[in-house]
Amino acid sequence: MANLIDRTGVITLNRQIAKDIYKIVLQFDDFPQSIHGAQFAHVKLNDKAHVLRRPFCICDYNIADKTLTMCYAVVGKGTEILSKYPVGEKLKVMLPLGNGFVPDKNVKKIVLLGGGMGSAVLPAISRTNPELEYYTYLGFANKDKVALEEEMRALSKEITVATDDGSYGRKGFVTNVLAEDMERISPDLIFCCGPEVMYKALKKALAPFNVPIIVSLEARMGCGIGACLVCNCKVKRNGEEGYARACIDGPVFNLDEVVL
Ligand SMILES: Cc1cc2nc3c(=O)[nH]c(=O)nc-3n(C[C@H](O)[C@H](O)[C@H](O)COP(=O)(O)OP(=O)(O)OC[C@H]3O[C@@H](n4cnc5c(N)ncnc54)[C@H](O)[C@@H]3O)c2cc1C
Ligand code: FES
Repeated sequence: MANLIDRTGVITLNRQIAKDIYKIVLQFDDFPQSIHGAQFAHVKLNDKAHVLRRPFCICDYNIADKTLTMCYAVVGKGTEILSKYPVGEKLKVMLPLGNGFVPDKNVKKIVLLGGGMGSAVLPAISRTNPELEYYTYLGFANKDKVALEEEMRALSKEITVATDDGSYGRKGFVTNVLAEDMERISPDLIFCCGPEVMYKALKKALAPFNVPIIVSLEARMGCGIGACLVCNCKVKRNGEEGYARACIDGPVFNLDEVVL
C-alpha cells in the first residue's frame, strides 16, 4: 500500500552543485520513522500551471533532524521552477514512496553504480545499510556534470568516477570501467540507477560475471501511488510478460525481470 501522507517541508537549502544540477534540502515537522534506500519523494510545485507532482529519489535523509535531501537536474519547466525556490519556501511532499531496496542477509559487498542523475539514489542506500561494504562507480558525460562524488566517498570503501569524454576520472562508459574491475572487487550484488540504455550496456558488459543486478527504473509518473498506470513498465515473471507499476511495484526491480 502506497504511503499517502502528504507532508509539508520547508526548504533549508536549494543550491547548484554542478552544471544544471541542484541539491535541495527540506525540513519537516512530521517525518517518516523509517526509509529504505531507493525510495522516492513526490514533490508538488507551488504553481497552478504544473499540477502533476515530480518524482525524485530520496538522495539522503536524517530521521533525527527530519530532513530530506534530493538532487535534481534541470531538464524542463518543473525542475526549472523548483530551482528558483528560495530558502523558506514550503513544499508538499509525499514520502517515502516505492518499494525501495532491501539487501538480502547474505549480501556483504555491493557495487553501487550511478549513471548521471541516477547517482542521486545512491547515498540513501549506504545510509540505510551502513554495515555493508560499498564500491561506488559514478558515470557522467563530462567533468561539468560530476555530482555527489564527495558525498559517496564518505559512504564508500572505494569510489571511482568515469566520464564519457575522459575530462574527469577514468575515461569511458562507467559500465565498461566497472567490468574491468569486476574480478578484483568480486561483489555479491550490483545496484544500478541510470537511463535505460545504461541497463542494456550493463547487461552486456557484465554477462561474463554471474552477479545479480538490481536496478531502479525512472519511468514517467503521474500519481505516484498506483492509481493512474502512467508508470507501467514491461516485466517478465515466471516466463510470462506483463506490466508492473514502477511507482508501487518498483521502482526497484531485478534487471533480469525488466523487459528492456
Ligand atoms: C522514481 C523516480 C526518481 C527520480 N529521481 C530523480 C532524481 O533524483 N533526480 C532527478 O534529477 N530526476 C529524477 N527523476 C526524473 C525527474 O522526475 C524528472 O526529470 C522531472 O520530473 C522532470 O520534470 P520537468 O517538469 O522539469 O521536465 P518535463 O518538462 O516533464 O520533461 C523534460 C524532460 O525530462 C524527461 N523526463 C521527465 N520525467 C522523467 C522521468 N520520470 N524519468 C526520466 N526522464 C524524465 C522528459 O522526457 C523530457 O525530456 C526521477 C524519476 C523517477 C520516476
Ligand atoms: S504513477 Fe500512477 S500508477 Fe504509477
